[in-house]
Amino acid sequence: MEDLKQVAAKAAMDFIKPGNIIGLGAGSTIAHLVNFLKEDVTLARHITTVTSSFNTRQLLLEHGFHTKDISEVSRLDIYFDGCDQFDHQLNALKSGGGIHTREKLLAAMADKFILVGDGGKYVNQLYTTFPVVIEVIPEAVLFVQQQLKKIFSLANPVTRMSNKKDGAVITENGNLLIDIWFRSFPPLDNLNERLKQIPGILETSLFYNMAHAAIIAGKTGVEIIRK
Ligand code: 5RP
Repeated sequence: MEDLKQVAAKAAMDFIKPGNIIGLGAGSTIAHLVNFLKEDVTLARHITTVTSSFNTRQLLLEHGFHTKDISEVSRLDIYFDGCDQFDHQLNALKSGGGIHTREKLLAAMADKFILVGDGGKYVNQLYTTFPVVIEVIPEAVLFVQQQLKKIFSLANPVTRMSNKKDGAVITENGNLLIDIWFRSFPPLDNLNERLKQIPGILETSLFYNMAHAAIIAGKTGVEIIRK
């Protein structure tokens, strides 16, 4: 899969023009894109980058890219990001990283939000091998779990624990994450709204109807899907 991620990242280069403000997400696919950009010295010198990810930021700084903090921008030309899974309508689950609040902010700022990934992530319909993750303020965790069980009777909400230390994962915003394991997904078209009506929930890892295009690398080549 790593090779396919690299192929998809290379194809993403065609979308980037000098003068662009480019948002970059997290993960190995995006790391490949940064490496391709670094090799195109002229283009690299003439773009501004913004990222939602600590690791991507380290990589950008290491290679001398002009990088801005998210708080300094309100619009991007393009936001590229990977995901765990995306469907034929380009709805995506970005549950693994637990940094979806910042990722969604950048995706919303972008004139074009482009998913980049290998074909293994492209599915007919999102399925429940991944949870929907919510970022929750610490004070609201018990309340939110109780509400989730009331509203979605078949959902199993689990606070994400750290495997490196004895405690819960704390987000970069000082909040907690709850992985909501659904037996089957409720209708996706209003799932974000239903979740965000519960006080204490900041953002969800479901990127519904946000992506404008996807670059998918499969065994037979690269496919660009536009909405
Ligand atoms: C992080 C993400 C990543 O983009 C996603 O996990 C994909 O990573 P990779 O490119 O390593 O497969 O959503 O929040």
